[in-house]
Amino acid sequence: GEFHAASQAQPNIALVKYWGKRDAALNLPAVGSISITLDSLWTRTDVRFVPGQKGDRVSLNGRSDEAESRRITACLDLLRQRAAVDWGADVASRNNFPTAAGLASSASGFAALVHAGARALGLQLSDAEQSVLARRCSGSAARSIFGGYVEWAHGRLADGTDSVAQPLLAAESWPLRVAVAITSKAAKQVGSSEGMRRTAQTSPYQSAWVDTQEADLTTARNAILARDFEALALISEYSCLKMHALAMAAQPGLLYWNGATMECMHRVRALRQQGLPVFFTVDAGPQLKAVCEPSAIEEVKAALRDVPGVLDVLDTGLGAGARAISP
Ligand code: DP6
Repeated sequence: GEFHAASQAQPNIALVKYWGKRDAALNLPAVGSISITLDSLWTRTDVRFVPGQKGDRVSLNGRSDEAESRRITACLDLLRQRAAVDWGADVASRNNFPTAAGLASSASGFAALVHAGARALGLQLSDAEQSVLARRCSGSAARSIFGGYVEWAHGRLADGTDSVAQPLLAAESWPLRVAVAITSKAAKQVGSSEGMRRTAQTSPYQSAWVDTQEADLTTARNAILARDFEALALISEYSCLKMHALAMAAQPGLLYWNGATMECMHRVRALRQQGLPVFFTVDAGPQLKAVCEPSAIEEVKAALRDVPGVLDVLDTGLGAGARAISP
């Protein structure tokens, strides 16, 4: 068809975390962040705009979901505005990994949606422009437009046009591996947007978090450009634990971990003490991501599988940014 395109994007995992917004309406972050884009987990999204159709029809993994459909319609509205059309769209999207359980399905989902939707409408958008649009749909999606190591800038402008992600280093230049320990398949209790709002309103550590982020970004950026694993391990665990401490100090406190998450953290620390190049990070959910040098992946997977409460361990490398696939 004429107004039809399909795209694939992969989730990303922040090593220096995004938590907090400076503008909720434009979805501008209070802090910059640095992430890695994964390769074997993906979202594939097919978008067809139908002239004359009222409203969007959305299928996610073959089902309809009202809350998700509203977010997708809001995201498509940004594309329709750009193209000056009011056509409804048929959207079919699927993930090859569990959604809504802290595996960043919104990052790959909205990056794929913006990438496919823009092409379906014939909009000629640069990667940076797609990153800005994806950011408005879900902050972390700004980073999944790009592959490898990515930095998303906090930006200074009120309109947010400078709060855009850009690649720091290609995946092939430092091909680390990631083991994801699944400790729960339930949907998360408090979503990121609500968690960030509650944290900013009630956590006494909010200003310390914002004030120390620039230094963390510099440390992580330098570690990545120097491919210094030990330095990246230390700054990444520090940023993760600092984000969770900030959120735990909200009222009521946000507890994203379960017992198995915590047990996995201890296991990863013990492996590193034994000399294995591995570190952990955890997002707004109970899954633990262990990032390691390729030589360590089998040992890391085996150790995590051994932790009581771990249901499954996925294994992925680093991958590319959003791209076209055949519809
Ligand atoms: C903990 O991008 O899901 O994963 O912008 O409100 O959609 P919204 O939030 P989202 O938040 C991700 C938070 C995080 C850290 C990170 O990915 O940097």
